[in-house]
Amino acid sequence: MPLAEFTAELSAMRAAAEAAFASAADADAVEAARIEFLGAKAGKLREAQKGLGAVAKDDKPAAGKHFNDAKQAIEAALAAAQERLNAGGAKQRTGPAFDATVPGTPLVLGHLHPITQTIEELKDIMGRLGFVVADGPEIEDEWHNFEALNIPPSHPARDPLENFYLSTAKAANPAGKTSATNEPTLLLRSQTSTVQIRVMEKTPPPVRIIALGRVYRPDTADATHYPMFHQIEGLLVDRHVTMADLKTVLRLFASSYLGSDVHIRFRPSFFPFTEPSVEVDMSWNDGWLEMGGAGMVDPHVLQAVGYDPDEVSGFAFGLGVERLCMRRHAIDDIREFYKNDVRFLQQF
Ligand code: DAH
Repeated sequence: MPLAEFTAELSAMRAAAEAAFASAADADAVEAARIEFLGAKAGKLREAQKGLGAVAKDDKPAAGKHFNDAKQAIEAALAAAQERLNAGGAKQRTGPAFDATVPGTPLVLGHLHPITQTIEELKDIMGRLGFVVADGPEIEDEWHNFEALNIPPSHPARDPLENFYLSTAKAANPAGKTSATNEPTLLLRSQTSTVQIRVMEKTPPPVRIIALGRVYRPDTADATHYPMFHQIEGLLVDRHVTMADLKTVLRLFASSYLGSDVHIRFRPSFFPFTEPSVEVDMSWNDGWLEMGGAGMVDPHVLQAVGYDPDEVSGFAFGLGVERLCMRRHAIDDIREFYKNDVRFLQQF
């Protein structure tokens, strides 16, 4: 085969290959062109290589150089096509350029529930008045919830309809037979006054404590009632404690929480564990609102825990935490606290 013919065929094939790789739109087209021109068995370059054998001996060096040039050019065209397609793919993946100056999506931070916040603040206020925090169980026995607080078995406050009694006998004895053991009757505590007893049983006077926590009563939920709510209980027992001390502490407490323009008022009342007893009202901005009860600790209660009523006297109070918080933030429905609607909770 004459050299001119060999190089002409080679150049035409090289041009066709370069055009094929340059116009390949996707990986399949590139692969098809690769097989057509660079295929190891039947590729066109391979065919051309066979033609090399038919060239005259003197022409071989020149023909070989032409062949190698064409081979390199076609391989370069393949590489270029592959790179072009990869670069395009990478572009698609990144999408629009990242703009580091655009403000990020803000993280929504949670916070303490408004009742928890209120409890923390009340602890703080009473702490400054020298009261330390005491605690007691939410599942109580009748001694601490009633008996020691001078609430005898016949008292209407012990009615099963007024309390969440627990069916402990049944729990211990699933068959429903009456338990032979003398398990005390248990209930969810209906008041935090239970903690007064627990503290005085363990601590000789003087005591100056507050207790904050959940209490339970089978009330139907409405704007001012909920079957579970929170109380803050206070107890101070020492020598020569009087009603004037009670009023002073409650006034300081109220003005610390609601502001100095708050007024407080006592109305005569009755609680089995205090004598005399009062209802505590607070007024702030508009009208009087009942906040809870208070009084001088009944001598029977002091005796029940082994204190000598001739030696010491004390005052106690129990106020509703939700009521205080509602008053301060003008919340008109106690149920809002327990719906867990973030639109409400976010406001605190
Ligand atoms: N335990 C009472 C209640 O739940 C509130 C109360 C009244 C607490 C008078 C006291 C008190 O400590 O002295 O209604």
